[in-house]
Amino acid sequence: MSHRRNSLRRAHITGWGMAVPERVLTNGDLATMVDTTDDWIRQRTGIGERRIVGEGETTFTLALQAARSALEVAYLDPASLDLIIVASVTPDYAFPATACLLQDALGAPKAAAFDLSAGCSGFIYALSIAANLLGAGTYDNALVVGAETLSRITDWTDRSTCVLFGDGAGAVVLQAGQAPGGVLASVLGSDGSGGELLILPAGGSAQPATVQTVTSRQHFIRMEGQQVFRFASRIMPEAARQVLQRAGRTVDEVALFIPHQANDRILQAAARGLGVPEERLFSNLARYGNTSAASIPIALCEAIEQGLIKRDDLICCVGFGAGLTWGAAAIQWSVPLPAAVPRRRMRVWRWLRYRLTQLRSRWRRLWRRLDAWLSGFLHRRNGP
Ligand code: ACO
Repeated sequence: MSHRRNSLRRAHITGWGMAVPERVLTNGDLATMVDTTDDWIRQRTGIGERRIVGEGETTFTLALQAARSALEVAYLDPASLDLIIVASVTPDYAFPATACLLQDALGAPKAAAFDLSAGCSGFIYALSIAANLLGAGTYDNALVVGAETLSRITDWTDRSTCVLFGDGAGAVVLQAGQAPGGVLASVLGSDGSGGELLILPAGGSAQPATVQTVTSRQHFIRMEGQQVFRFASRIMPEAARQVLQRAGRTVDEVALFIPHQANDRILQAAARGLGVPEERLFSNLARYGNTSAASIPIALCEAIEQGLIKRDDLICCVGFGAGLTWGAAAIQWSVPLPAAVPRRRMRVWRWLRYRLTQLRSRWRRLWRRLDAWLSGFLHRRNGP
């Protein structure tokens, strides 16, 4: 870890990628599972369908796909990564961190890696931490991922929550540079007094898994929807205004807001609170529902794909979530768009590299076993 203090250093988003499962679950499908209708879901939330992982897919597999795409756009060798943060409330395991699984699979030998839990605000929290570490000169290259498989903690018999959530992942590569723009400012906030409004009651140290916690469905999301709704409608415009003020910019200068995708009515309330037309707030809720920490980076990728972001545009990401938490980031887009498509030679090289990384990981696991066996053998032969 090197320390190059320089007040001009900025964190620039140089790569981006997303991944969603193939399986689509429509409102019609849900109407066959619980007492609901397509009309109710669309009118109350704006959601039409969501993606759900299949067998063998996990938060890690989605994160890996999104991360590889982001690294390809950035033309960055994973070996150059100094830091990997995965924001998620649905990591593959309590430990090891999903970020460490990613570090191994990508082949990023010098990267520090950790998971971050800040609900749906997780991506903004991770972006802010990474941008500050880059700006301070601690690191040069970081990968920030928001990835979720909420379907694995959704109670599919509870109509008040199961219609809302979906699975997916989004990732960005951040690189330090002297050019103007990049992540200009961020604000993060929390209010733990609202923790029980959005909670996964069991599975932690407060309520370890027991037969009783399983039968009483304590391992699924519990939510006080209306209270979360009121909090979100208030905090989204507030956080956005705060971050713009910190960046020395105004609401009118923002080309596009990338809000957390929870409910169209929350986006409408945020637009009213900011005094901007709804079109200035990007929405893809209809296709993915609420993918928690993945929703902002997925929305960012789709906004770029749809040509809604241009070089030098000011964009404002803003989110809220379990905790309760909230966060916002003001970013001046600083790389040319559209991104250059990787050449075929590059794609082949990447493919080879990923295979080599897999082999290296297998070899390290095998070596660890051999080493343990050999130590045991010598210990038995030579005595303690
Ligand atoms: N289909 C049909 N009826 C339903 C459904 C459904 N899926 N869900 C609830 N209802 C019923 C309720 O039972 C209630 O019936 P009643 O009047 O007979 O009692 C009626 O619809 C109204 O229910 P409300 O809860 O008042 O509905 P509301 O308009 O508040 O919408 C919703 C509910 C969509 C959950 C909304 O409150 C919301 O979006 N809240 C915010 C959720 C959110 O943003 N969560 C963030 C999660 S972030 C994270 O960190 C994971």
